[in-house]
Formats: sequence, C-alpha cells, structure tokens
Amino acid sequence: MPFCMRVLELRASGFRNLEPLCFAPHEGLNVIGGENAQGKTNLLEAMWLFTGGRSFRGAKDAELVAVGQEQAELFLSFESQERRQTAELTIRGGVRRAVLNGVPKRGMAEIVGRFCAVIFSPEHLSLVKGGPAERRAFLDTALCQVKPSYAPLYARYRHTLNQRNALLKDISRHPELLDTLSIWDERLCRYGAALAKEREWYLSRLSPLAQEHYAGISSGRETLELRYEPSFTGDMAHALYAARREDLRSGHTSVGPHRDDIAIALSGMTARSFASQGQQRSIVLAMKLAEAGVLALSCGEEPVVFLDDVLSELDASRQSYLLQRLSGRQIFLTGCDLPDAVPCGEGGVFVMQSGRLGGEEISAG
Ligand SMILES: Nc1ncnc2c1ncn2[C@@H]1O[C@H](COP(=O)(O)OP(=O)(O)OP(=O)(O)O)[C@@H](O)[C@H]1O
Ligand SMILES: [Mg+2]
Repeated sequence: MPFCMRVLELRASGFRNLEPLCFAPHEGLNVIGGENAQGKTNLLEAMWLFTGGRSFRGAKDAELVAVGQEQAELFLSFESQERRQTAELTIRGGVRRAVLNGVPKRGMAEIVGRFCAVIFSPEHLSLVKGGPAERRAFLDTALCQVKPSYAPLYARYRHTLNQRNALLKDISRHPELLDTLSIWDERLCRYGAALAKEREWYLSRLSPLAQEHYAGISSGRETLELRYEPSFTGDMAHALYAARREDLRSGHTSVGPHRDDIAIALSGMTARSFASQGQQRSIVLAMKLAEAGVLALSCGEEPVVFLDDVLSELDASRQSYLLQRLSGRQIFLTGCDLPDAVPCGEGGVFVMQSGRLGGEEISAG
C-alpha cells in the first residue's frame, strides 16, 4: 500500500450552517450520521474546498459563508507523504484566500495537488444515463485536481466562449462587427484544442482502470470502454466556420469542447441505451474508483475519499466491493441510516445535528 493522505484536523467557523468546530477524524473510516439538512454534506464540502478545485455542488463562494456572517474561516491539517501540512482558507466577499504551510498563496490554483480527495455522491449515479453536461462536469472536476494548469485553461476557454457568444448577438445589430469574429474563432480553437487534449489524456488513463474495476464488480464478460467524444468531426476551425451562419442566427456557439462528451461503451454498445440499471451503477462505481486511481498516480499518494450519502444507494455486493477496494484509505461516509452503513473494522462514528458535530469517537469494530 502506498502512502495515504489523511485529514488530521479540520476547524471551521462561519461556514454554511456549521457551528464553530474542531474535528479530529479517525485515520480510517469516519461515519457521519444525522438527519436531513443537519450539515453532513457541508462538513465534507469544508474539507473538499482544500483540494482547490471546483465545488462538487456548483456552489458560489458567497453561499459558503454562513448567513449573517462576514466571512468563513477554514483550517485543515493533513498528513501527506508522512509529513504534516497545514492549509487555511478564508472566504470573504466572494474572494478566497489560501495559506499553505504558513505561506500565503496568490490563488486557489496554487494549492491544487496538495490535498487530494475524491467525492462520490448520489448525483454521480446518473453519469451514464444523464446528459453530456454531467459527464463533462465529472471530467473537468477530476482534471482540475490532477492538473493544476487545467482550471486556468478551462476558465480561459469559458471566457473566450462567452465573449464569442456576446459578439454573435451584437453582430445582428452591428453587422460591421462580423470582421472581428475570426479573432474569437481562432482563440476558441486554440484553447479548445488544448482543453480537448487534456480530457483525452485523462480518459486514456481512466479507461483501463475503470475496465479493471468493472470486471471486479460485475464479474461480467462485458468490457467497459471510456473514450472522449468530440461534438464535431474533423478540424474544429472548419467545423466552427461551417456552423457560423447557424451560430449567428441562434446567438450561441454550437461547436467546441463545451458540447463534447464521454462515450461509454459496454462491449462496444452505447451504455446509455444498452446498459441495464445494475450495469449502469457498476459503470459509475468503476469510474469513481478509477478516478481515485488516476489521482493516486498523479499525487503519488492515495486520496481521501468522501462518500456522501451514496452507500445506501448501492446493493450489498457493490457496497462491499467499494469499501474493500478503498480499505486502508481515510474515508468519510455520510448517511441517515447509520447502523447498516457501518462495516466491520476500526473507525469513528459521529453525529451531525443542527451544524454541531457530536458523538465521541467510538470503535465501530
Ligand atoms: N450559507 C449558509 N448559511 C447557513 N445555513 C446554510 C448555508 N448554506 C446552507 N445552509 C444550510 O445547511 C443545512 C445543511 O445542509 P447539508 O447539505 O449539509 O445537509 P445534510 O446533513 O447533508 O442533509 P441531507 O441528509 O439531506 O443530505 C441546510 O439546511 C442549508 O439550508
Ligand atoms: Mg447531504
């Protein structure tokens, strides 16, 4: 077993509905129980923010600060490569400030890759059946952690796309602006190609690991294949030019990585229409475990695992496969039905109630 990253301590104040807290989790499994809307997911989110990546809920920074408070302050101490590290985050007026091991950082991108984690929640269960936007979000979130350069690249692409869309709308009123469109086309193609290349690279890493996990979960004969699927054929510049008339009419850019997808195939058949419910769940589980695997390769260390309310959604055999493959890592598991969810082994059990984390650490073994 290689090194495993571990949270040693989390402190939070002014964050969402959480009461000021000082949480020293167990090094293995941490079960966090409690009724709905008590703050379980908020607790995971507080730790997740230290990955430096995207919010797994798509939350805006202002929503993270507790209602009526000016700022949220978070402190995380974690063990990485057997070394204790600390990170601090302050969110105020929609701006995040990060400090790593006592050194202030210029932006969140600078803390990416220090604290590594994966999160698995019920929304992920629709990865196969859902729309391409969900699969792109999966890719983008995962890539932000694996490659610190991905988030700024993604932001540049989005910015360019927004500019182009605004221009498309302006041209109808100011036709003379048409000449400037090619400048944005050129930029969109440049950043778009770089974005697509990173996503292709990521899937080429993810696919064999997911295949392996799929075989382990299903003991089936199908082979799972994940491939990047561009929304256009051939060269992006040509496709963009060919769609220009249509884009001018609609005011939206119809070609580019913001329309791309992940092709998921089971023995060569499109999983979205072909896979059974059970097969779809196995595919998602395989993808999430593979995500942890790719992250471990890039960090040189196993990531912390957040299982938000997902265990009860899986049947007994998938639950046991998941927990068995994750054993040795630090896990934070939330759910409303505690007793069934707690497997054998050492761990801590906590209860979240009205933003207050209680329950002494008791052995669940
Ligand atoms: N900025 C904020 N200030 C105060 N309260 C907030 C803020 N943001 C969210 N909340 C509240 O936090 C509460 C707990 O949310 P959370 O998602 O953590 O619950 P949960 O325990 O995971 O519940 P469930 O079991 O339903 O998933 C919600 O009732 C929400 O209204
Ligand atoms: Mg929740």
